[in-house]
Amino acid sequence: MTNIGLALTSREINDLVRDDLKKVEQHFKLESAASVQTVTAVASHMQAGGGKRLRPILLLLSARLAGEMSDDAIRMAAVMELLHTATLVHDDVIDMASIRRGRPSANALWGNHVSVLAGDWIYMQAFQITLELRDFQIIDILMNVTQRMVEGELLQLERIGKLDISEADYMELIDRKTAALFGACAEVGALIGNRADSASQARLSEFAWNLGMAFQLVDDILDFTSRENILGKPVGNDLQEGKVTLPLLYALATANREEVRLVETVLKDKSYDRVPFSRILTLIEDHQGVKRAQERAATFAGRARELMLSFPDSPYRRALLSVAELVIDRDR
Ligand code: IPE
Ligand code: IPE
Ligand code: MG
Ligand code: MG
Repeated sequence: MTNIGLALTSREINDLVRDDLKKVEQHFKLESAASVQTVTAVASHMQAGGGKRLRPILLLLSARLAGEMSDDAIRMAAVMELLHTATLVHDDVIDMASIRRGRPSANALWGNHVSVLAGDWIYMQAFQITLELRDFQIIDILMNVTQRMVEGELLQLERIGKLDISEADYMELIDRKTAALFGACAEVGALIGNRADSASQARLSEFAWNLGMAFQLVDDILDFTSRENILGKPVGNDLQEGKVTLPLLYALATANREEVRLVETVLKDKSYDRVPFSRILTLIEDHQGVKRAQERAATFAGRARELMLSFPDSPYRRALLSVAELVIDRDR
């Protein structure tokens, strides 16, 4: 539990959310208890595994920026992390991933059947807590975002192994998979903060959406450039899983026939047995795929920054601005 939140948060952000986050963790723990022991075990394994807690942090800071802190904000921050957790448990089943946050994934420990059901349970738990607020607008936001995420994973499945993906296709996917939930965290935070007008709510949500786009782009870049012991999940994994992400898409746009064939080989083999990962890295490097994807991530982060600067200066605005910087600079 010691590394929770620390990877992405500077001292400044930590000082602002530390106490709130502690309460969120207590809530998360409490709400992870099911009447069936196996579900509790999966939920606790996920809770104790760390993670950056970026979504709760976004919600908490948005609530404070837009008004005031309340027990409901703490509760909804825990709900957002529960939703994120359920997606990760299901995502690792779909991706057949065995490592998450530097530890065995739920599916590695309990198998696919248990993980799917535990993921379902965690989703429902998130909705049950939300229902206690009796706030239809918030329920509506959560239903929408959850469906969008599931649709995103489905779209991704349809595209597995395909090279002919456009930049617009890719952007749509990361919007659904990741950015929508970021936007929802800020929107719910603003609603609970209770003092923001609807234009500010929308701007806060757009800020977080742009941040989410930058975040997933960086996740996809790190899959090529990082190391497993830093990232807490294997590198080079996306391509092996059949996912063609932006750094590679950019490289493929200018690659020659022979280079395209190398990528096709990895996709076909679902491994780096015939074409080593280092060869793919060189290919991407030669066509400046990482650099161009980084520029794209920086554009989203820049837009987020611009939107945040439209709010009056406050410690919360400064903290949200540093979140935007850290998302780009992070190494895990
Ligand atoms: C992982 O999210 C899934 C993506 C959207 C890339 P995080 O990188 O926020 O995962 P944790 O919670 O910090 O482990
Ligand atoms: C993020 O996609 C999926 C979710 C939003 C759950 P990835 O498949 O890239 O996430 P990681 O890399 O496994 O964390
Ligand atoms: Mg995955
Ligand atoms: Mg990834």
